[in-house]
Amino acid sequence: MMVKCDLCIKNGTIVTGSDTFQSSIYVKDEKILAITAAEDETYEAEETIDAKGLHVLPGLIDTHVHSRDPGPTHKEDFYHSTRAAAAGGITTLFEMPNTTPPVDNETHFALQKDNLSSKAAVDFGLWGICLGHLNNEKLPALHKQGVIGFKFFWGYAVHEETFQLMYNYKPGMEKVIPPFHDGEVYEMMEHVAKTGQIFAVHAENNDLIQTLTDRVEKRGGRSYEDLLEGRPSLTEFLTVQTGIAMARATGVRFHVLHVSSGDSVEIIRQAQREGLPVTVETCPHYLFLSAEQYDEIGSTMKVYPPVKYKKDQEAIWEGILDGTISSVCSDHAPHTSSEKDGELWSIPAGMCGVETLAPLMLNAVSEKRITLNRFVQLLSEEPARMYGIAPQKGTIHPGSDADFTFVDMEMEDKIDINKLHSKSKVSAYHNFPVKGWPVRTIVRGKTVMDKGSVTAESAGCLVTPAAKGDMLYE
Ligand code: NCD
Ligand code: ZN
Repeated sequence: MMVKCDLCIKNGTIVTGSDTFQSSIYVKDEKILAITAAEDETYEAEETIDAKGLHVLPGLIDTHVHSRDPGPTHKEDFYHSTRAAAAGGITTLFEMPNTTPPVDNETHFALQKDNLSSKAAVDFGLWGICLGHLNNEKLPALHKQGVIGFKFFWGYAVHEETFQLMYNYKPGMEKVIPPFHDGEVYEMMEHVAKTGQIFAVHAENNDLIQTLTDRVEKRGGRSYEDLLEGRPSLTEFLTVQTGIAMARATGVRFHVLHVSSGDSVEIIRQAQREGLPVTVETCPHYLFLSAEQYDEIGSTMKVYPPVKYKKDQEAIWEGILDGTISSVCSDHAPHTSSEKDGELWSIPAGMCGVETLAPLMLNAVSEKRITLNRFVQLLSEEPARMYGIAPQKGTIHPGSDADFTFVDMEMEDKIDINKLHSKSKVSAYHNFPVKGWPVRTIVRGKTVMDKGSVTAESAGCLVTPAAKGDMLYE
């Protein structure tokens, strides 16, 4: 009997985290129906895509995106960031909760789900925010609704009304919630531990940053090296170290976001050896940029935590290779070009990244720094597993969502910031040569990008962990 399906992808080379093979894939009702050695007479497809010469990967996941929607949408919004994602081969992104309002309770989660669903070109998960005593009691409800994990901006003050992050907090500032002290962080971890979900932190120690930055400012330091003197690796290391110790005590799954220094990678490696539930991600800027290049690149590369030195970059690569680092994401954090076009000291930190994440990492595959299988682990399989959305996402398997990223490993082009789909076009990678590009993005069986053109309607859906609502203990 002939089985009718919606889509057949033939002649492509399928790549998973562990295998590379030739197959045909059949899709029905947004899911993978079958994977067969060759075209199979059992199936009849309405549409067939010939992927000859291309690699077919499980849809890529960017776990760290700040679309700022609702909030400072003059910098970016979800309409733009999800089209940038589609253009960059991303089929699912996780949206950060530092919006206005933030995703801090049940009502705001529901509002955000509706807001983003109306604009999404790709699927998305929602991070919940930890605001200590202000929302500890709301975390179980957020867990039930299906947040992807809980984020804590360790060391940041937030504005009392907008909940926007305050970059250079000083005591005495008005209308701010000052950075939370360690006791409060400990309590947050206890609360998150009950949900069994990830407690993910921006790791920078604010006390040390204040003291060291004051010192640098007083002597008039304004260079990139001065910036790093005010925010050295030690600020990250101290926070990671405290976090690991508290994770050991509370049992929480502790995740270090956007790791930037070699010392932090090493202490995380040790914690993992000890068997602690500690994970870590990094971003392209820590893998492809270093302080030594500042004169050449300029202030577009200002991000927090700041990009450190070449020796840190090398240590972070080591962490990718030995498995200490389990995922690579963008930390897409756009600001307008005029906001970024100023003195290093005063401009905001962050740059676009969701569209350049996959090309930059594919280029690393072309340079043989990692294999294409490892690439799939870092950008799809591991994120899906860690955040509990596998096997719906992150795998090419019957029953899974029909999300695919086609890549052309022979294609060579330069990154051109003018072609970015984000509202802001700020990136440190203008003219960066890349070999290996995403050429088609398919979300639940629908093509949302083909050869660089974004064809998406707004049909992205919220993705929630399979185990949402199952509390480990009350
Ligand atoms: C982020 C932003 O602008 O939202 N900036 C950044 O440099 N990474 C905030 C953050 O993650 O620290
Ligand atoms: Zn951060």
